[in-house]
Amino acid sequence: MKFFIDTADPAQIKQAADLGLLDGVTTNPTLIKRAGLPRDSALQTICALVDGPVSGEALGPDADTFIKEGLALAEIAENIVVKLPANAAGLKACRALSQRGIAVNMTLIFQPVQALLCARAGAAFVSPFLGRLDDICSSGMELIEEMRIIFDNYGFETEILAASIRSPEHVKQAALAGADVCTVPLDVLLKLLNHPLTASGIAAFEADAGLR
Ligand code: G3P
Repeated sequence: MKFFIDTADPAQIKQAADLGLLDGVTTNPTLIKRAGLPRDSALQTICALVDGPVSGEALGPDADTFIKEGLALAEIAENIVVKLPANAAGLKACRALSQRGIAVNMTLIFQPVQALLCARAGAAFVSPFLGRLDDICSSGMELIEEMRIIFDNYGFETEILAASIRSPEHVKQAALAGADVCTVPLDVLLKLLNHPLTASGIAAFEADAGLR
């Protein structure tokens, strides 16, 4: 499973890259707003920091506007992935942009058939939102499991990008369900290595080695 970081903050992206475990970046309008930078200059900065795919969200609301926005976003850098919502306008724009060789990440996916349509429309990635499903007492893990079965049934190359990750447990669920990519906030990425027995084991070994 690949790891993307879910932020538009260049400092956080550098910190994740320093861990040696950064395959790409996802942003959305909320994350861009939080980073306090205009979208296109934020994406330009991020694309220069990361070799892998960097998702930037196009704004609609109609297919023609999504296509226009997507074409402009794709000019920012070679590693830009255009993020579009999984509705009818987004689907139409997904097909048009994918046919021009532009990678698309279809976002806000909450049920498996949305993902099936997006894969048929040529999406490079589909983003099921685990945390937001869990928020309403629905199963994010089940969604990814079903998407995995459907994609494997038909041999789609579209990658399942688990998003709206709020905890290490979500990362585990995404990996168990066969997600290709998991996009995580920095605080969750750092928590993945935390275990009290690891910490106490290190302390004991250091003490026995005379380092403490
Ligand atoms: O990648 C999408 C993600 O940023 C949404 O996360 O926590 O706002 O549901 P959240």
